[in-house]
Amino acid sequence: MGRLSGRVALVTGGLGGIGSATAHLFAREDATVVVTDLAAHGPVPPSATYRTLDVTDDAGWQALAENLRAEHGRLDVLVHTAGIAMSRPLLDTSPEEFRRVQETNTTATFLAIRAVAPIMPPGGSIVTLSSVNGVLGATGLAAYGASKFAVRGLTKVAALELAEAGIRVNTICPGSIATEITASSDFADTDWAAYTRTIPLGRRGTPAEVADVALYLASDASAYVTGTEIVVDGGVSAGRRFPRR
Ligand SMILES: NC(=O)c1ccc[n+]([C@@H]2O[C@H](COP(=O)([O-])OP(=O)(O)OC[C@H]3O[C@@H](n4cnc5c(N)ncnc54)[C@H](O)[C@@H]3O)[C@@H](O)[C@H]2O)c1
Repeated sequence: MGRLSGRVALVTGGLGGIGSATAHLFAREDATVVVTDLAAHGPVPPSATYRTLDVTDDAGWQALAENLRAEHGRLDVLVHTAGIAMSRPLLDTSPEEFRRVQETNTTATFLAIRAVAPIMPPGGSIVTLSSVNGVLGATGLAAYGASKFAVRGLTKVAALELAEAGIRVNTICPGSIATEITASSDFADTDWAAYTRTIPLGRRGTPAEVADVALYLASDASAYVTGTEIVVDGGVSAGRRFPRR
């Protein structure tokens, strides 16, 4: 029997790197998986259902929640991975760009929690995606970092308010994971080899390594864990290493 046997799990951004790895892992752990993303359809686990959802669309969220209630009677797990990145110096970031990142990363996380909590039974688990850049500042990430710090705060408030309903809410703060999110032109001049040398474990992470943590937070293995974050960053946020001659 899988670790999510009998659970209904929704993975947003499920065609992306971390979302796809999570959807596949959850399907292997016997969850009934519903995947959403922006495209009309995409490669999802054979047992999963796919639906199109722009996570910034509140009416879309309400319709999805109603649909989940009608089809499954409830939702046990949400892993909200949909998100965008932007790398630009603060002074070169337009107000529209800044707002777009907050809308997609932060407001959408709020809409997600607000839509699914009412159809979650006690024992439900919501997993949001912040970032190591929601824990530490980083150059070029004014809009992204602000959105990911906000997701951590939102997650803690949701955990406090939903605890009475028996719903846990936690966030994952990945470090650098090789996915499409850093494939855009924004990151074209990033020196990934030099970046990798700053990671204590000496390499970027994989989507599967984030999915493993999502599974822990989704399952009863984390039954007493709520309102917190798990950093999955190869040690980057642990502190600074003293350079040696
Ligand atoms: N990859 C990393 O290094 C890293 C590090 C820290 C945090 N994260 C966070 O993890 C999450 C997943 O990132 P990833 O690396 O898998 O990226 P990804 O680009 O591979 O996947 C993100 C998915 O979100 C979807 N998406 C974007 N905007 C959407 C919208 N408005 N509505 C619905 N879907 C939308 C995209 O279509 C894509 O499939 C993001 O929230 C990201 O900020 C990633």
